[in-house]
Amino acid sequence: MYLYQGKTALITGASSGIGATFAYELAARGMDIVLVARSEERLQALATEIVQRHGRKVEVIAADLSDTQGVALVIQEVESRGLTIDLLVNNAGIGTHGYFETIAPERDQQLVMLNVAAVVALSHAFLPAMAARGEGAVINVGSTASFQPVQYMPAYGASKAFVLSFSTALAEEYRHKGVRILALCPGATITSFFETAGEEAAMGSKRTSKQAVTTALRALEQGRSVVVDGFMNMLISHASRILSRSIMARITGNGLRPGHSQKNKKNKKQTTVNMVK
Ligand SMILES: NC(=O)c1ccc[n+]([C@@H]2O[C@H](COP(=O)([O-])OP(=O)(O)OC[C@H]3O[C@@H](n4cnc5c(N)ncnc54)[C@H](OP(=O)(O)O)[C@@H]3O)[C@@H](O)[C@H]2O)c1
Repeated sequence: MYLYQGKTALITGASSGIGATFAYELAARGMDIVLVARSEERLQALATEIVQRHGRKVEVIAADLSDTQGVALVIQEVESRGLTIDLLVNNAGIGTHGYFETIAPERDQQLVMLNVAAVVALSHAFLPAMAARGEGAVINVGSTASFQPVQYMPAYGASKAFVLSFSTALAEEYRHKGVRILALCPGATITSFFETAGEEAAMGSKRTSKQAVTTALRALEQGRSVVVDGFMNMLISHASRILSRSIMARITGNGLRPGHSQKNKKNKKQTTVNMVK
C-alpha cells in the first residue's frame, strides 16, 4: 500500500519521455508535482496541462542537473518555496554510444554528473527528512543496462549499474525507517532518449513510457526494491546471473556495434531482393 493523495512528488527529467509520464500518472493519483529539467517552456506547458487535467498544484524548477550549481538550485528552490518532497523520482538521464574514442569526453562527463552525481546529491537532500517523518519514497530510474557491462555504451552501462547498486543498498537501510526505495529498470522505451544517445543505442523491441511507469508504481505499492519493466527484459536481465561479465559485454556489443543497423538494413534489402528474384 502506498498513499499518493495530497503528497508531493519531485520528478527530474520531467520535460519528456518517462519523466513526463510519471508526472501525468502521479498527478492522476492525486499528487502535487514539482517538475525539474532544463527546458523551462516545455515544463511550463506540461504544468498547465496537468493543472487543467487533474487540478493538482504544479511547480516548475528549470535547472541543469549535470552541473552541481543546478542541483544546488533545485534544493534551494524546494526549500525557499516551502515544499515537502514525499516522493523523489530521479529520472533524468542521458546515454552516449559509439567506439570509445569517438565519444566526446565532455558528454561522458555530463552523463556521470547527471546519471550518478545528481542522483546521489538529491537523495542526500531529501532522504533524511523522509526518514525523520517516518514516510517517503524514492524511485531511481536505472535500466536493463544496470545488470551487465554494455559494450559501446560503457559509461552509460556503468552509470546504471551504479543506480541499481545504490538503490538496493539504500532500500535495505531505509526499509525500517518507513521509506521505500525502488530501482526501475526499463529496457528500450519509446522516448526521445535515442535522439541524444543515437538510434543504434536501442536493443530489442521498445515498450511505452506508460508501461514503464505503470510497472514502477505497481512495484512501489508492493514495496519492492527493484523492478524490470517487461517480461522479456526481465528474462534477459537474469542472463547476467548465469553468464560471465565478459560474455555479457560481448553479447551487448553484438547488438550495439556502431554501424550494425546499417549493415542489417543492407542485409535485409539483399535478402528481399534475393527472395524477389
Ligand atoms: N528510453 C529508453 O529506452 C530508456 C531505457 C532504460 C532507461 N532509460 C532511462 O530513463 C530515464 C528517462 O529517459 P527517457 O527515456 O524518458 O529520455 P528523454 O525523453 O530523453 O528524457 C530525458 C529527460 O532528462 C532531462 N535531462 C537531460 N539532460 C538534463 C540535464 N542536464 N539536467 C536536467 N535534466 C536533463 C530531459 O530534459 P531537458 O532536455 O529539458 O533537460 C528530459 O526531460 C533516463 O534515466 C534513461 O537513462 C531510458
